[in-house]
Amino acid sequence: MTTDTTRYPAALDAFLSASSAYRATAAIDALRAQDYSRLDRAGHVYLDYTGSGLYAESQLRRHQALLTDGVFGNPHSKNPTSLASTAMVEAARAAVLEFFRASADEYEVIFTANASAALKLVGESYTFAAGSRFLLTYDNHNSVNGIREFARARGATVTYLPVGASALRVDPEMVRAELASPLSGASNLFAYPAQSNFSGVQHPLAWIDEAHERGWDVILDAAAFAPTNRLDLSVVKPDFVPLSFYKMFGYPTGVGALLARRSALAKLARPWFAGGTITIASVQGEGWHRLAPGAPGFEDGTADFLGLPAVTIGLEHLSAVGIDVVHERVTALAGWLLERARDLTHGNGAPMVRVFGPQDMTARGATIAFHLLDPAGETFDVHRMELLAGERGISLRTGCFCNPGDGVVAHRITADDMAACFVEQRAVTFEECDALIRTATGKMPNTMRVSLGLVSDFADVFRFVEFVERYRDVSAREI
Ligand SMILES: Cc1ncc(COP(=O)(O)O)c(C=O)c1O
Repeated sequence: MTTDTTRYPAALDAFLSASSAYRATAAIDALRAQDYSRLDRAGHVYLDYTGSGLYAESQLRRHQALLTDGVFGNPHSKNPTSLASTAMVEAARAAVLEFFRASADEYEVIFTANASAALKLVGESYTFAAGSRFLLTYDNHNSVNGIREFARARGATVTYLPVGASALRVDPEMVRAELASPLSGASNLFAYPAQSNFSGVQHPLAWIDEAHERGWDVILDAAAFAPTNRLDLSVVKPDFVPLSFYKMFGYPTGVGALLARRSALAKLARPWFAGGTITIASVQGEGWHRLAPGAPGFEDGTADFLGLPAVTIGLEHLSAVGIDVVHERVTALAGWLLERARDLTHGNGAPMVRVFGPQDMTARGATIAFHLLDPAGETFDVHRMELLAGERGISLRTGCFCNPGDGVVAHRITADDMAACFVEQRAVTFEECDALIRTATGKMPNTMRVSLGLVSDFADVFRFVEFVERYRDVSAREI
């Protein structure tokens, strides 16, 4: 897909003169041309950074050079190749602490496969019991929602804080009221995303202190927040922070982390042991001693010792660009997109776009969920639109993004509507559930999403708007 050569220069000029914040990020244009040249060479409009970040070509070259020059064995022995691997693993741990400004006295970095594995570590080890509470917002990712199964299995009470229909935010008074009543004498856990991966809503980080004051432990899911926002753990002190590194800088995949406060980690009780997590285990006496509290007790088996240096390289790359610069850039671009979404209308004056969640950039990130509407207000089939966008080189995402809470509120799907998907004993698929709800209620349970990241530029968002404009005065049935 090529950009409209007549309108684009004028639109770019207008945007640049209106946005000094974006102009100040021009270094990213040079970086994109040099280090992400494959994007423009192949005509990609990449709008799925909340799905995955993109790697710079230089990250790959640095990682490959390191592996090509070195000889690395399994860590945690005293031979030279093992020591070299251990050094790389520990360098990655130090780089994570430094990036998030976390003190090594206060935080541990536990390497995991991804954010979901980090969350599972907390869920399975948290000391839920009858009398505990697990409090969580509606807009959590399913990998947080899944913790409720551990909580319920051990008799804890699970409470959801709903999001409101207009902006998909949680009422702060409701949060305060729930936080005011932890169950005394038990462990109480509060979980929320720093940024919803559905709506882009950013919840107050001040909730962390409020929760602590009332005796709660806090999971701050930073998987969707960390790629374009500064998370400063010298200022805010969540107990558990799950992350996936591919979302921050694209490569490597398969490595995430749980940043955990040492004090909170000490309270966890792991349900099993594995190679590397214990000092000794006996097969005769069936005894085992866990390693001193800390990261090794939570890293099962051999760490991804060849992948972890790529985390250090990725963090250095993101630091060199500047997370604040990335933040300013995506904020400016997403702000422009939201304004355009508001202005796009059909010939009869009906809106072409319905955005779910905040309509401006106040307390939100650069992830935008929406439906495209026809002149009669009917919703275009999201899956068909994903394919049509794809034909024009645009990568956007459709579905529920593993965030069913935001989805049901955005689309006003009731518990009764959803019940249709749970009648059968067998596992009903996502597609079947979608069809059941659409047939029974006429509601569209799925959503379209665009999300911006490290090297997003004005051409990306302009070309997306051009794509939407193709559907002016087109009926949803026609496509
Ligand atoms: C907010 C949030 N939490 C958790 C996850 C899970 O991440 P992963 O699939 O890398 O484990 C995601 C992934 O999209 C996310 O957006």
